[in-house]
Amino acid sequence: MQLRSEGATVYQFEGGEPFMPTPAPIKDAMKRALDEDQTRYAPSSGIPELREAIAEKLRTRNRIPAHSKDVMVVNGGMQGLFGAFQSIVNPGDEVLLFSPYWTPIKDLVAHCQGRSVFVPTDEARARGFQQTLARYTTDRTRAIYYNTPQNPSGVVFTPEEAKAVAEFVQDRDLVVVADEAYEDLVYDGEHCSIASLDGMFERTISCFTFSKSYAMTGWRLGYAVATEPWMTGLRKATLYSSNGVSTPTQWAGLAALQIETSALADIREQYRQRRDLLLSGLNEIGLHCTPPAGAFYAFPDVSRINKDSREAADVLLNRAQVAAVPGIVFGAEGESHLRFSFSTSIETIEAGLDSLRRNL
Ligand SMILES: Cc1ncc(COP(=O)(O)O)c(C=O)c1O
Repeated sequence: MQLRSEGATVYQFEGGEPFMPTPAPIKDAMKRALDEDQTRYAPSSGIPELREAIAEKLRTRNRIPAHSKDVMVVNGGMQGLFGAFQSIVNPGDEVLLFSPYWTPIKDLVAHCQGRSVFVPTDEARARGFQQTLARYTTDRTRAIYYNTPQNPSGVVFTPEEAKAVAEFVQDRDLVVVADEAYEDLVYDGEHCSIASLDGMFERTISCFTFSKSYAMTGWRLGYAVATEPWMTGLRKATLYSSNGVSTPTQWAGLAALQIETSALADIREQYRQRRDLLLSGLNEIGLHCTPPAGAFYAFPDVSRINKDSREAADVLLNRAQVAAVPGIVFGAEGESHLRFSFSTSIETIEAGLDSLRRNL
């Protein structure tokens, strides 16, 4: 921001939101809702029409056996995750987080006076999930945060990996907080909702958002899915904080769910094109990067520039005016990496790579 205020061009790869505007049918639905005076209090769990449409989407697209009573409409993925941890974690409880992890999760756990325990994703994938999870589990372990596709690494857990986690969770009587914010952005493999697996619906709180799939980050709309006793905690967390999502926004959300899945596939192809362009450029420059199977981030190893990721980020910014996020903010396992978002224009990706080639 300082460089930009001094008039420099900065190639921005540090963000975390879709590159395109919200689709027109969603904006039209919002305008219609306002014209029709859909501006009064809604039930704090959400308008029935939206909860029903979400439940239908969960059954058909996610294979989660949910009904509208299991759905809570919330202010974005963040409020669902907040309520999920509030309803599960007691002081002193431990929560397992695959690391690198999305930064706010540690604070959401700490807010319940719980303790985050970091499970290196690489170790789990190399040595096996059950064996690795067992190594980090104690008699205080209460829950696992299960994010796929992952921010920041782009890892997409396979259905076999989901099954291994599910078996472990059932053996140890744990609860899962599933974060499926990037469910529609999978390039290699398939998205598997862990709550769709046998015996998992009743021990999972699944958190979804309209932010990434429908380019609705600023609208603050998402949903959490759970059965009792978790639903009571989720309901209270929303009722006594925001008391629900703005009513016209919910009607806009209903229109989003009516967008054909083929349109989502077209958007995914635009992301894939950006991913492939950024990946080949980074690898060519020597910033080694395994292809992210999902989400919209590349997470290259930058130890050839500096093992300290904050230093590496400074080098890129000062020499090449390229902004990226230091991997250390995503946990110790993120050190020596930088997070680049490829959710930007093709022109920005090309210009940023060109600047790296010339200045690194
Ligand atoms: C992994 C992950 N989960 C959840 C969210 C929450 O998004 P929102 O609160 O905009 O719905 C984000 C946003 O960046 C994310 O990266």
